[in-house]
Amino acid sequence: MIIGVPKEIKNNENRVGVTPAGVAEFRKAGHTVYVQASAGEGSGFSDADYEQAGALMLPTIAEVYGQAEMIVKVKEPIQEEYQLIREGQLLFTYFHFASSEELTHAMIERKATCLAYETVELPNRSLPLLVPMSEVAGRMAPQEGAKYLEKPLKGRGILLGGVPGVRPANVLILGGGVVGTNAAKVAAGFGAQVTIMDISLNRLRELDDIMPKNVVTQYSNDYNIRAAIKEADLIIGAVLIPGAKAPHLVTRDMLKDMKPGAVVVDVAVDQGGCIETCTPTTHENPTFIIDDVVHYCVANMPGAVPYTSTLALTNATLPYAVKLANLGWREACLRDASLRLGLNVVNGEVVYKGVAEAWGLPLTNVSKILEPAHA
Ligand SMILES: NC(=O)c1ccc[n+]([C@@H]2O[C@H](COP(=O)([O-])OP(=O)(O)OC[C@H]3O[C@@H](n4cnc5c(N)ncnc54)[C@H](O)[C@@H]3O)[C@@H](O)[C@H]2O)c1
Repeated sequence: MIIGVPKEIKNNENRVGVTPAGVAEFRKAGHTVYVQASAGEGSGFSDADYEQAGALMLPTIAEVYGQAEMIVKVKEPIQEEYQLIREGQLLFTYFHFASSEELTHAMIERKATCLAYETVELPNRSLPLLVPMSEVAGRMAPQEGAKYLEKPLKGRGILLGGVPGVRPANVLILGGGVVGTNAAKVAAGFGAQVTIMDISLNRLRELDDIMPKNVVTQYSNDYNIRAAIKEADLIIGAVLIPGAKAPHLVTRDMLKDMKPGAVVVDVAVDQGGCIETCTPTTHENPTFIIDDVVHYCVANMPGAVPYTSTLALTNATLPYAVKLANLGWREACLRDASLRLGLNVVNGEVVYKGVAEAWGLPLTNVSKILEPAHA
């Protein structure tokens, strides 16, 4: 198959869909890979790295789209890319269709076939191509929190780990899933006193088994949260209710009970945030202050560490991408039910229920599309 790797052109996106190691894997399986010049620059990969791995470099994005049967990238195509997409071309990337009607209609009009990272789903209902970014954001959260607790950045001026004779900071983590667990590991590693709250007792049991001594678990309810925020120096929001907005666990009125200069890092801000006063910010201007509480609410935290994020993402996406290249999307989706759930649009027909429902569009049965008669 001919694979194309364009440079991401969305504002401030430095990740890339395939690394030089990925190119080598495709080449080993006999595929051709076209990479746009400087596509890997933001993640620390030079054109020479790609060429050594066996990629063919192309100067423009139009040529990459023009040559490729399958485009592998990171973010959804943006307007400038729409007219480059050809009928039946396979796009393997994040789409988040339910948050963009314009993108959905554009892909339908271009008669594209869109396999979305975010809806590839394993039998245990986990989302293997979202987990890596939650891991990155979770591990970043205490690092950012520690930074904004420093006095020159308007924080309380407390060192996360303390020093001998001086107590460490109290870190409260709301939600003990992927983000929360990774945040707890790093905060505990810094030497902070960490509390993780969740409504899943099973999850709290698992965490209690695996976490070090400076991490305690507590059931998440309004009473416990109100008490804990009075002691917290850093609060990390990491709650997710699948398919719904995050619940506001820390409400506006609760801020006055917090210590002046305390910091909240609301990782769940992309789902509305679990701290009521959080609204999305960017890496250019990551924080704002309300009632003396520093709010860090960057909606794409992994974007700040493109080297780590690209490797983490492509470790997870590459095996699927190779399978798609080896078998073609139809056969690959017939054989792999997880991958099949990633199909959102096929030749311009919407096949994913959530997308059809979001924009009132007709839903085509994916099994019908996969029948040989349809090929
Ligand atoms: N800002 C970013 O850059 C960024 C990056 C990655 C992920 N995220 C977001 O982070 C959030 C968490 O993602 P995740 O992968 O950890 O999800 P997850 O499903 O692994 O974990 C969510 C946890 O929240 C718990 N929960 C639900 N309701 C709760 C409540 N009332 N109190 C306490 N806990 C509760 C669940 O039981 C679960 O353990 C999501 O909104 C995700 O989109 C943001």
